[in-house]
Amino acid sequence: MKCKAKIIGLGAYLPKRVLSNQDLEKMVETSDEWIISRTGMKERRLAAADEFTSDMGYEAAKKALEDSGKKAEEIDLILFATLTPDYVFPSTACLIQNRLGAVNAAAMDMQAACTGYIYALSAAKAYIESGMYKNVLIVAAEKLSSIVNYEDRNTCVLFGDGASACVVSDAKKGFAIENVSLGSDGQQSELLILPAGGSKRPASLETVQAGEHFLRMEGREVFKHAVRRMEGAVKECLDASGLEEQSISWMVPHQANIRIIEALAKRFKVPKEQVYLTIHKYGNTSASSVGIALDELVKEKNVKLGERVVLFAFGAGLTWGAASLTCEVDNG
Ligand SMILES: CC(C)(COP(=O)(O)OP(=O)(O)OC[C@H]1O[C@@H](n2cnc3c(N)ncnc32)[C@H](O)[C@@H]1OP(=O)(O)O)[C@@H](O)C(=O)NCCC(=O)NCCS
Repeated sequence: MKCKAKIIGLGAYLPKRVLSNQDLEKMVETSDEWIISRTGMKERRLAAADEFTSDMGYEAAKKALEDSGKKAEEIDLILFATLTPDYVFPSTACLIQNRLGAVNAAAMDMQAACTGYIYALSAAKAYIESGMYKNVLIVAAEKLSSIVNYEDRNTCVLFGDGASACVVSDAKKGFAIENVSLGSDGQQSELLILPAGGSKRPASLETVQAGEHFLRMEGREVFKHAVRRMEGAVKECLDASGLEEQSISWMVPHQANIRIIEALAKRFKVPKEQVYLTIHKYGNTSASSVGIALDELVKEKNVKLGERVVLFAFGAGLTWGAASLTCEVDNG
Protein backbone atom coordinates (compact mmCIF):
# COMPACT_ATOMS: atom_id res chain seq x y z
CA MET A 1 0.00 0.00 0.00
CA LYS A 2 1.17 3.52 -0.81
CA CYS A 3 2.59 5.22 2.30
CA LYS A 4 1.01 8.42 3.66
CA ALA A 5 3.45 11.04 4.90
CA LYS A 6 2.95 11.79 8.59
CA ILE A 7 4.09 14.47 10.98
CA ILE A 8 5.79 12.51 13.75
CA GLY A 9 7.38 15.30 15.80
CA LEU A 10 6.72 18.98 16.48
CA GLY A 11 8.68 21.83 18.04
CA ALA A 12 8.57 25.61 18.46
CA TYR A 13 10.69 28.36 19.91
CA LEU A 14 9.78 31.88 20.96
CA PRO A 15 12.39 34.44 22.02
CA LYS A 16 12.11 35.79 25.58
CA ARG A 17 11.72 39.51 25.02
CA VAL A 18 8.08 40.68 25.04
CA LEU A 19 6.95 43.76 23.10
CA SER A 20 3.52 44.75 24.43
CA ASN A 21 0.92 47.11 23.01
CA GLN A 22 1.82 49.46 25.87
CA ASP A 23 5.46 49.43 24.72
CA LEU A 24 4.31 50.28 21.18
CA GLU A 25 2.19 53.17 22.51
CA LYS A 26 5.49 54.78 23.58
CA MET A 27 7.07 54.25 20.16
CA VAL A 28 4.39 55.32 17.63
CA GLU A 29 0.98 57.02 17.66
CA THR A 30 -1.20 54.02 18.46
CA SER A 31 -3.25 52.58 21.31
CA ASP A 32 -3.75 49.24 22.99
CA GLU A 33 -7.46 49.55 22.18
CA TRP A 34 -6.81 50.13 18.43
CA ILE A 35 -4.39 47.24 18.14
CA ILE A 36 -6.61 44.76 20.00
CA SER A 37 -9.80 45.72 18.18
CA ARG A 38 -8.23 45.85 14.67
CA THR A 39 -5.86 42.87 14.98
CA GLY A 40 -6.45 40.82 18.18
CA MET A 41 -2.81 41.29 19.21
CA LYS A 42 -1.65 42.15 22.74
CA GLU A 43 2.00 41.12 22.70
CA ARG A 44 4.64 39.79 20.36
CA ARG A 45 8.15 38.38 20.96
CA LEU A 46 11.38 39.90 19.69
CA ALA A 47 14.68 38.12 19.18
CA ALA A 48 17.75 39.42 20.99
CA ALA A 49 20.23 41.52 19.01
CA ASP A 50 22.60 38.54 18.74
CA GLU A 51 19.86 35.97 18.05
CA PHE A 52 19.18 35.23 14.39
CA THR A 53 16.72 33.26 12.27
CA SER A 54 19.02 30.21 12.19
CA ASP A 55 19.34 30.25 16.02
CA MET A 56 15.58 30.24 16.52
CA GLY A 57 15.11 27.62 13.80
CA TYR A 58 17.78 25.45 15.40
CA GLU A 59 16.00 25.51 18.79
CA ALA A 60 12.65 24.56 17.22
CA ALA A 61 14.30 21.84 15.09
CA LYS A 62 16.00 20.27 18.11
CA LYS A 63 12.64 19.98 19.87
CA ALA A 64 10.92 18.52 16.80
CA LEU A 65 13.68 15.92 16.40
CA GLU A 66 13.46 14.98 20.07
CA ASP A 67 9.67 14.72 19.84
CA SER A 68 9.95 12.48 16.76
CA GLY A 69 12.55 10.13 18.27
CA LYS A 70 14.68 10.55 15.13
CA LYS A 71 18.38 11.35 15.18
CA ALA A 72 19.73 14.22 13.11
CA GLU A 73 21.68 11.70 10.96
CA GLU A 74 18.41 10.06 9.91
CA ILE A 75 17.14 13.23 8.22
CA ASP A 76 17.27 13.04 4.40
CA LEU A 77 16.17 16.60 3.63
CA ILE A 78 15.86 19.94 5.47
CA LEU A 79 13.36 22.47 4.13
CA PHE A 80 13.74 25.89 5.76
CA ALA A 81 10.83 28.30 5.24
CA THR A 82 11.69 31.95 5.85
CA LEU A 83 11.61 35.42 4.36
CA THR A 84 14.23 36.66 6.81
CA PRO A 85 17.15 34.28 6.19
CA ASP A 86 20.46 34.94 7.96
CA TYR A 87 21.98 35.58 4.50
CA VAL A 88 20.62 35.67 0.94
CA PHE A 89 23.06 32.80 0.54
CA PRO A 90 24.17 30.34 1.81
CA SER A 91 20.75 29.03 2.74
CA THR A 92 19.67 29.06 6.38
CA ALA A 93 18.83 25.36 5.86
CA CYS A 94 22.56 24.67 5.37
CA LEU A 95 23.46 26.64 8.49
CA ILE A 96 21.23 24.49 10.66
CA GLN A 97 22.15 21.28 8.83
CA ASN A 98 25.64 21.91 10.18
CA ARG A 99 24.56 22.81 13.71
CA LEU A 100 22.26 19.81 14.00
CA GLY A 101 24.86 17.44 12.57
CA ALA A 102 22.35 16.27 9.95
CA VAL A 103 25.23 14.94 7.89
CA ASN A 104 23.09 12.87 5.52
CA ALA A 105 20.62 15.62 4.67
CA ALA A 106 20.18 17.75 1.56
CA ALA A 107 19.16 21.25 2.57
CA MET A 108 17.39 24.20 0.98
CA ASP A 109 15.37 27.31 1.83
CA MET A 110 11.79 27.77 0.64
CA GLN A 111 10.43 31.25 0.13
CA ALA A 112 6.65 31.39 0.16
CA ALA A 113 6.41 34.13 2.82
CA CYS A 114 3.74 33.43 5.46
CA THR A 115 2.60 30.33 3.54
CA GLY A 116 6.09 28.78 3.78
CA TYR A 117 5.25 26.10 6.34
CA ILE A 118 2.36 24.81 4.25
CA TYR A 119 4.39 24.91 1.02
CA ALA A 120 7.07 22.90 2.84
CA LEU A 121 4.50 20.37 4.10
CA SER A 122 3.37 19.83 0.53
CA ALA A 123 6.96 19.29 -0.69
CA ALA A 124 7.73 16.92 2.21
CA LYS A 125 4.60 14.91 1.44
CA ALA A 126 5.57 14.62 -2.22
CA TYR A 127 9.17 13.57 -1.47
CA ILE A 128 8.04 10.94 1.01
CA GLU A 129 5.10 9.53 -0.91
CA SER A 130 7.19 9.27 -4.09
CA GLY A 131 9.61 7.09 -2.11
CA MET A 132 12.55 9.46 -2.65
CA TYR A 133 13.06 10.31 1.05
CA LYS A 134 12.00 8.80 4.38
CA ASN A 135 12.53 11.66 6.85
CA VAL A 136 12.13 15.35 6.06
CA LEU A 137 12.75 18.10 8.63
CA ILE A 138 10.72 21.26 8.09
CA VAL A 139 11.88 24.39 9.89
CA ALA A 140 10.14 27.77 9.68
CA ALA A 141 11.72 30.72 11.43
CA GLU A 142 11.55 34.48 11.16
CA LYS A 143 13.36 37.45 12.59
CA LEU A 144 10.78 39.90 11.25
CA SER A 145 12.05 42.56 13.66
CA SER A 146 15.06 42.83 11.31
CA ILE A 147 12.85 44.19 8.47
CA VAL A 148 10.14 46.06 10.40
CA ASN A 149 10.23 49.84 10.62
CA TYR A 150 9.45 50.66 14.26
CA GLU A 151 8.47 54.18 13.22
CA ASP A 152 5.67 52.95 10.93
CA ARG A 153 2.50 52.30 12.94
CA ASN A 154 0.83 50.62 9.95
CA THR A 155 3.18 47.63 10.19
CA CYS A 156 5.22 47.65 13.42
CA VAL A 157 2.33 46.56 15.63
CA LEU A 158 1.67 43.44 13.57
CA PHE A 159 4.82 41.33 13.52
CA GLY A 160 6.87 39.20 15.90
CA ASP A 161 9.79 36.77 15.84
CA GLY A 162 9.66 32.99 16.36
CA ALA A 163 10.23 29.53 14.95
CA SER A 164 8.54 26.19 14.46
CA ALA A 165 9.56 22.82 13.09
CA CYS A 166 8.26 19.35 12.36
CA VAL A 167 9.57 15.99 11.21
CA VAL A 168 7.62 14.39 8.35
CA SER A 169 8.20 10.69 7.80
CA ASP A 170 7.09 7.49 6.20
CA ALA A 171 5.69 6.19 9.52
CA LYS A 172 2.76 4.21 10.93
CA LYS A 173 1.64 6.78 13.51
CA GLY A 174 1.48 10.55 13.53
CA PHE A 175 -0.57 13.27 11.88
CA ALA A 176 -1.23 12.02 8.35
CA ILE A 177 -0.97 14.78 5.75
CA GLU A 178 -4.15 14.02 3.83
CA ASN A 179 -4.12 16.87 1.36
CA VAL A 180 -2.39 20.16 0.68
CA SER A 181 -3.81 22.86 -1.56
CA LEU A 182 -1.54 25.71 -2.72
CA GLY A 183 -1.89 28.84 -4.84
CA SER A 184 -0.20 32.08 -5.87
CA ASP A 185 -0.89 35.38 -7.64
CA GLY A 186 2.23 37.30 -8.67
CA GLN A 187 0.11 40.08 -10.16
CA GLN A 188 -0.37 41.35 -6.59
CA SER A 189 3.32 41.15 -5.64
CA GLU A 190 3.57 44.87 -4.80
CA LEU A 191 0.96 44.66 -2.02
CA LEU A 192 3.43 43.16 0.45
CA ILE A 193 7.08 43.63 -0.37
CA LEU A 194 10.62 44.26 0.85
CA PRO A 195 11.57 46.69 -1.93
CA ALA A 196 15.38 46.65 -1.72
CA GLY A 197 18.25 44.29 -1.01
CA GLY A 198 17.67 42.01 -3.99
CA SER A 199 19.22 42.18 -7.47
CA LYS A 200 16.70 44.79 -8.65
CA ARG A 201 17.51 47.31 -5.88
CA PRO A 202 20.83 46.33 -4.29
CA ALA A 203 21.63 48.05 -1.01
CA SER A 204 22.87 51.61 -1.50
CA LEU A 205 22.85 54.85 0.44
CA GLU A 206 19.73 55.79 -1.51
CA THR A 207 17.81 52.58 -0.65
CA VAL A 208 18.74 52.93 3.02
CA GLN A 209 17.72 56.60 3.16
CA ALA A 210 14.41 55.80 1.44
CA GLY A 211 13.63 53.07 4.01
CA GLU A 212 13.45 50.43 1.27
CA HIS A 213 14.93 47.72 3.48
CA PHE A 214 11.77 47.68 5.59
CA LEU A 215 8.70 45.66 4.65
CA ARG A 216 5.76 47.51 3.13
CA MET A 217 2.16 46.40 3.12
CA GLU A 218 -1.13 47.70 1.72
CA GLY A 219 -3.03 46.31 4.70
CA ARG A 220 -6.58 46.91 3.52
CA GLU A 221 -6.00 45.31 0.09
CA VAL A 222 -4.07 42.37 1.55
CA PHE A 223 -6.94 41.79 3.99
CA LYS A 224 -9.48 41.32 1.16
CA HIS A 225 -7.29 38.88 -0.74
CA ALA A 226 -6.44 36.98 2.45
CA VAL A 227 -10.05 36.14 3.34
CA ARG A 228 -10.99 35.11 -0.21
CA ARG A 229 -7.87 33.07 -0.93
CA MET A 230 -7.74 31.19 2.37
CA GLU A 231 -11.43 30.35 2.10
CA GLY A 232 -10.80 28.94 -1.40
CA ALA A 233 -7.74 26.97 -0.26
CA VAL A 234 -9.55 25.30 2.66
CA LYS A 235 -12.51 24.42 0.44
CA GLU A 236 -10.26 23.00 -2.28
CA CYS A 237 -8.29 21.00 0.29
CA LEU A 238 -11.43 19.43 1.77
CA ASP A 239 -13.12 18.87 -1.62
CA ALA A 240 -10.09 16.94 -2.90
CA SER A 241 -10.82 14.24 -0.29
CA GLY A 242 -14.60 14.55 -0.55
CA LEU A 243 -14.75 15.96 3.00
CA GLU A 244 -17.50 18.16 4.46
CA GLU A 245 -16.89 21.34 6.47
CA GLN A 246 -18.34 19.52 9.50
CA SER A 247 -15.35 17.18 9.47
CA ILE A 248 -13.02 19.94 10.75
CA SER A 249 -12.16 19.20 14.40
CA TRP A 250 -9.52 21.93 14.79
CA MET A 251 -8.64 25.01 12.76
CA VAL A 252 -5.03 26.23 12.87
CA PRO A 253 -5.00 29.55 10.99
CA HIS A 254 -2.16 31.85 10.03
CA GLN A 255 -2.14 34.37 12.90
CA ALA A 256 -2.26 37.64 10.94
CA ASN A 257 -5.52 39.24 12.03
CA ILE A 258 -8.27 38.06 14.39
CA ARG A 259 -10.95 39.52 12.10
CA ILE A 260 -9.72 37.39 9.17
CA ILE A 261 -9.63 34.29 11.40
CA GLU A 262 -13.14 34.92 12.78
CA ALA A 263 -14.55 35.49 9.29
CA LEU A 264 -13.13 32.16 8.12
CA ALA A 265 -14.24 30.25 11.23
CA LYS A 266 -17.76 31.60 10.67
CA ARG A 267 -17.66 30.68 6.99
CA PHE A 268 -16.74 27.06 7.83
CA LYS A 269 -19.04 26.98 10.89
CA VAL A 270 -16.20 26.06 13.25
CA PRO A 271 -16.94 27.09 16.88
CA LYS A 272 -14.37 29.42 18.40
CA GLU A 273 -13.24 26.80 20.97
CA GLN A 274 -11.97 24.74 18.03
CA VAL A 275 -9.94 27.55 16.46
CA TYR A 276 -6.42 27.63 17.88
CA LEU A 277 -5.12 31.14 18.53
CA THR A 278 -1.69 32.45 19.44
CA ILE A 279 -2.19 35.88 17.84
CA HIS A 280 -2.77 37.66 21.19
CA LYS A 281 0.65 36.63 22.50
CA TYR A 282 2.93 36.29 19.45
CA GLY A 283 1.36 38.46 16.68
CA ASN A 284 2.16 37.53 13.08
CA THR A 285 5.35 35.44 12.88
CA SER A 286 5.02 34.84 9.11
CA ALA A 287 6.23 31.39 7.96
CA SER A 288 6.51 30.06 11.51
CA SER A 289 3.00 31.11 12.55
CA VAL A 290 0.92 28.00 11.73
CA GLY A 291 3.69 25.70 12.96
CA ILE A 292 3.86 27.44 16.35
CA ALA A 293 0.07 27.19 16.67
CA LEU A 294 0.06 23.50 15.63
CA ASP A 295 2.78 22.67 18.17
CA GLU A 296 0.80 24.35 20.96
CA LEU A 297 -2.50 22.81 19.88
CA VAL A 298 -1.06 19.30 20.00
CA LYS A 299 0.69 19.88 23.33
CA GLU A 300 -2.13 21.72 25.09
CA LYS A 301 -5.32 20.16 23.74
CA ASN A 302 -6.02 16.51 23.58
CA VAL A 303 -6.27 15.97 19.81
CA LYS A 304 -7.94 12.57 19.55
CA LEU A 305 -7.51 9.65 17.20
CA GLY A 306 -9.37 10.33 13.96
CA GLU A 307 -9.75 14.09 14.50
CA ARG A 308 -9.02 16.39 11.57
CA VAL A 309 -6.79 19.47 11.88
CA VAL A 310 -6.93 22.03 9.08
CA LEU A 311 -4.06 24.52 8.70
CA PHE A 312 -4.22 27.51 6.38
CA ALA A 313 -2.05 30.52 5.59
CA PHE A 314 -1.65 33.48 3.27
CA GLY A 315 1.21 35.84 2.56
CA ALA A 316 3.37 37.89 0.24
CA GLY A 317 3.68 36.78 -3.35
CA LEU A 318 0.77 36.54 -3.03
CA THR A 319 0.77 32.94 -1.83
CA TRP A 320 -1.79 30.87 0.04
CA GLY A 321 -2.38 27.30 1.08
CA ALA A 322 -4.26 24.84 3.27
CA ALA A 323 -3.41 21.40 4.61
CA SER A 324 -5.64 18.80 6.21
CA LEU A 325 -4.13 16.42 8.77
CA THR A 326 -5.73 13.40 10.45
CA CYS A 327 -4.63 12.35 13.90
CA GLU A 328 -3.43 8.75 13.68
CA VAL A 329 -2.08 8.63 17.22
CA ASP A 330 -4.14 7.10 20.02
CA ASN A 331 -3.81 9.54 22.93
CA GLY A 332 -6.01 7.36 25.13
C1 LIG B 1 -3.07 46.07 8.79
C2 LIG B 1 -4.50 46.02 9.30
C3 LIG B 1 -4.56 45.53 10.72
C4 LIG B 1 -5.08 47.44 9.30
O1 LIG B 1 -6.42 47.41 9.73
P1 LIG B 1 -7.55 48.18 8.89
O2 LIG B 1 -8.79 48.05 9.63
O3 LIG B 1 -7.49 47.63 7.48
O4 LIG B 1 -7.04 49.62 8.99
P2 LIG B 1 -6.73 50.64 7.80
O5 LIG B 1 -5.49 50.25 7.09
O6 LIG B 1 -7.99 50.76 7.00
O7 LIG B 1 -6.48 51.95 8.62
C5 LIG B 1 -7.51 52.56 9.35
C6 LIG B 1 -6.94 53.79 10.04
O8 LIG B 1 -6.14 53.37 11.16
C7 LIG B 1 -4.86 53.98 11.08
N1 LIG B 1 -3.88 53.09 11.65
C8 LIG B 1 -3.09 52.18 11.04
N2 LIG B 1 -2.29 51.57 11.93
C9 LIG B 1 -2.58 52.09 13.13
C10 LIG B 1 -2.11 51.86 14.42
N3 LIG B 1 -1.15 50.96 14.69
N4 LIG B 1 -2.65 52.56 15.44
C11 LIG B 1 -3.60 53.47 15.23
N5 LIG B 1 -4.09 53.74 14.01
C12 LIG B 1 -3.59 53.06 12.97
C13 LIG B 1 -4.63 54.21 9.62
O9 LIG B 1 -3.68 55.23 9.44
C14 LIG B 1 -6.00 54.61 9.14
O10 LIG B 1 -6.21 55.97 9.44
P3 LIG B 1 -6.94 56.90 8.37
O11 LIG B 1 -8.31 56.30 8.20
O12 LIG B 1 -6.91 58.23 9.07
O13 LIG B 1 -6.11 56.81 7.13
C15 LIG B 1 -5.36 45.11 8.39
O14 LIG B 1 -5.57 45.75 7.17
C16 LIG B 1 -4.77 43.75 8.16
O15 LIG B 1 -4.67 42.95 9.05
N6 LIG B 1 -4.44 43.46 6.88
C17 LIG B 1 -4.07 42.11 6.47
C18 LIG B 1 -2.80 41.62 7.06
C19 LIG B 1 -2.55 40.22 6.57
O16 LIG B 1 -3.44 39.43 6.38
N7 LIG B 1 -1.36 39.87 6.33
C20 LIG B 1 -1.15 38.53 5.83
C21 LIG B 1 0.11 38.42 5.21
S1 LIG B 1 1.39 38.76 6.35
